[in-house]
Amino acid sequence: HSLKAHNTFGIDAKAKYYFEFTELEDLEVFLNSNKSWKDEKLIVLGEGSNILFLNDFDGLVIHPNVPGMNSVYEDRQHEWIEVGAGEVWDEFVEFAANQGLGGIENLSLIPGKVGAAPVQNIGAYGQEVCRVVEKVKGFDLKKGCAAEFTADECQFEYRNSIFKNYLKNRFIITSVIFRLEKFPEFDLGYGHLQEKVKAKGEANLQNIREAVIEIRSSKLPDVKELGNAGSFFKNPVVDKKLADQLLVTSPDIPVYPGEEGKYKLAAGWLIEQAGWKGKRIGDAGVHEKQALVLVNYGEASGKEIYALSEAVCNSVEEKFGVTLEREVNCI
Ligand code: EPU
Repeated sequence: HSLKAHNTFGIDAKAKYYFEFTELEDLEVFLNSNKSWKDEKLIVLGEGSNILFLNDFDGLVIHPNVPGMNSVYEDRQHEWIEVGAGEVWDEFVEFAANQGLGGIENLSLIPGKVGAAPVQNIGAYGQEVCRVVEKVKGFDLKKGCAAEFTADECQFEYRNSIFKNYLKNRFIITSVIFRLEKFPEFDLGYGHLQEKVKAKGEANLQNIREAVIEIRSSKLPDVKELGNAGSFFKNPVVDKKLADQLLVTSPDIPVYPGEEGKYKLAAGWLIEQAGWKGKRIGDAGVHEKQALVLVNYGEASGKEIYALSEAVCNSVEEKFGVTLEREVNCI
């Protein structure tokens, strides 16, 4: 089964087996069928917007396609919406904004499916999805039964959760219950968001959503035009000593206070300063408007894009003594 249409880098990798389902029951029937899937390597693939295939995949690809966006409960302040893993993330953000429900408006236009949102705790412009996740539901392959995780149990961190670690390739998310705000307080503190929103009139969900879409579209390549997987690297977190040293040698380096007395740096800035912005090796490139994003100009292989990412990491390490970590899953 070709995976070219199932990864936003547009890499033409093949999977030995491919299974897509719309209901949990179908998944259970499939897994209980004769074949002993337990012996196969396995990955769960949503829209494939955070993955790079370096080779063909010699195992089973499972694509959860569970639909639905349903209100399951409400009180005076909140409404709880259960959303199927197969829904497109941005369609859910649009739905929430239309219903007057807040908490995810800054996460407009992030590519991918709803089932992938909690896995890497998607975040942008001062919001992270973990703030509105109530529960994650799915199927535990090891135990062979359905299971649920509360937000606490998901162990959310910056671009991280239990689903990327302990439960990696073991838990298949089928739906997520979100707790959205009926009277949201807006998060406009990031970059030029406030100005952009003001230019549109009052701060409301629709204007914020539009402003975020404009900012993203001006910097980030559209996967329909240019293969990519958003930020290829995480923003590195460093200790005070290194942050202070860097501020001496590079006074205009962006440094943000992070958790536990640590500091977060902008990987895009480091990569640009190391001379990589807009560079291209064959069909693999560093995006010209946002250096954190690697792109496929057409026929690049997964290995070529990976090699470019290695070269970028080495330069940044050499120039700044900072180690970049990949955000994209390399398979
Ligand atoms: N910068 C540069 N050169 C670049 C890119 C960025 O100098 O090529 C500088 C900017 O001028 C700014 C700073 O780096 O001072 C931060 O840039 P930006 O606001 O564009 O955000 P980012 O840190 O590069 C992160 C997320 C994005 C998210 C934006 C907005 C990560 C890994 N990336 O990028 O998420 O949209 O903030 O919140 O945390 C994604 O994960 O796929 C993604 C796109």
